[in-house]
Amino acid sequence: MPTNGVRFSCRFARKLLPQPLLLTAAWLLLTGRDVGAQKVRVEEELEAYPNESVDLRCQFIDSDSITKLTQVSWIWEPAEGQRDNIAVFHPIYGQSFPDLAFKDRVAFLHNKLVNPSIRISDLRMSDAGRYTCEYATYPTGNEQATTTLVMLAKPKNSANVVTVQAGTKAMVVAQCQAADAKPAATIKWLASVGGNHTTSSTGGPDGTVTVRSEYRLVPTPADDGREVTCMVDQRTQDKTWTHQLRLSVEYPPSVSIEGYDHNWYMGRSDATLVCSANGNPQPTTVTWTAASGPLPDSVLVDGNKLTVRKVDDTVNTTFICEVKNKHGAAKHQITTLVIEEERRIVPGPSTGAVIGGLLGALALIGIVVGLVFFIRRRQRDADGPPKHKPPPPIKSSGSTELLTKPSEAPAATEMAPLTPAGDVYYEPTGSEPVRNFSGETPGAANGGGPPLPDEVNLNLDPNPDLVSTNQEPPPTANIARGESFVSPAMYV
Ligand SMILES: *[C@@H]1O[C@H](CO)[C@@H](O)[C@H](O)[C@H]1NC(C)=O
Ligand SMILES: *[C@@H]1O[C@H](CO)[C@@H](O)[C@H](O)[C@H]1NC(C)=O
Repeated sequence: MPTNGVRFSCRFARKLLPQPLLLTAAWLLLTGRDVGAQKVRVEEELEAYPNESVDLRCQFIDSDSITKLTQVSWIWEPAEGQRDNIAVFHPIYGQSFPDLAFKDRVAFLHNKLVNPSIRISDLRMSDAGRYTCEYATYPTGNEQATTTLVMLAKPKNSANVVTVQAGTKAMVVAQCQAADAKPAATIKWLASVGGNHTTSSTGGPDGTVTVRSEYRLVPTPADDGREVTCMVDQRTQDKTWTHQLRLSVEYPPSVSIEGYDHNWYMGRSDATLVCSANGNPQPTTVTWTAASGPLPDSVLVDGNKLTVRKVDDTVNTTFICEVKNKHGAAKHQITTLVIEEERRIVPGPSTGAVIGGLLGALALIGIVVGLVFFIRRRQRDADGPPKHKPPPPIKSSGSTELLTKPSEAPAATEMAPLTPAGDVYYEPTGSEPVRNFSGETPGAANGGGPPLPDEVNLNLDPNPDLVSTNQEPPPTANIARGESFVSPAMYV
């Protein structure tokens, strides 16, 4: 019908109109995709949100001044084939709003036949659809154009953690939801934990969609406190909505006793043991017991700390610490051996170590100096016969010789096998190089660098690790605080 109108007016124009106007009409015909639609001008698509209002603009472009306008209507097509007249304007009979669903929500913005724009207020999701501005004209018949109204809805986003118990089956540990959105939102997860997610969506009655996503994981104690992030994208959002979640994985406790220094001598005051527990929820009850029966009188317990005010043979026993949370209990025990005499830390070795370290460092400097000279000499030899023969390298290596007192060969020959030993350099205080060079020097052998490990455990270390005590149960429960619990020994 609209094309009929155009064709008519062109034919009409060819007969009656002067050349320039004819050209204009031809241009319209060539350029306009649907020239008839151009007579009625509307916006192609509009977006709106519920409860807001939207202006549907419409204008009749009177290009030839011939067409006579009779009446204009707005026709809503909620679905294919359904046409509901929601607003009518007649220059004589006035305005009419025949559709009850729009009756009090539609108004003409101007009281003009050539400009029948309307405003729809109090929008609903169900108002989405095609709105056609349709003129009844003479002599061309109906002229119309259509605006598509897209009703959008911002998603209501939320995310939450699901507290789970550590186990061997995959479980939902986090959820994320983008509710009542139009168009549907998309949910993505960002996580360093090796999980999986499943997403489902359900349609609401008004065309909105609720998208839910569940993050699944085989939860281990190590996953407790790790982060996963839910990300929601949707057309109405300027940027991605993100929500960071901290996983909550509960697990039974693990425990270890710390602080025993293998030096509980008779009469010592304030020897302490600390019961260090881990678990989610954090164990609150810590129970100290002694293998020999009730706790000795000299023992004072304050939470996870046990203090012996004065060491006597009543604490020559085994102490047990037990912790509980709602998922289980764990205990650890330690045998405190009371000795007659205090183990004294002999001051000798430490000064010896300093001296030895110094000697080692000096020896190394000597080696370096010697090496430099050696390499230079070799370079010069390679470059060609020097005019001035450098003095034999005995002098440079002499310093090394003096420091380390090697008994036999001159340093120049001794150094040759050492040249590739690059590892000498990165361990300047280590015992290895010193021993190599000190040979018969007893002082250096004793104190070259830090004390030797086998001596440490017996006498010197004031804070030995619990593992070194023989009486302890296997170090299964002996997990340091703050470490990750990868070991299955965790599960009590
Ligand atoms: C992820 O889900 C698929 C399908 O259910 C499953 O085959 C796969 O093992 C899962 N991957 C992980 C890491 O859970
Ligand atoms: C502590 O007990 C051990 C044996 O378990 C014993 O050898 C040691 O002499 C005892 N110490 C004292 C001070 O009684």
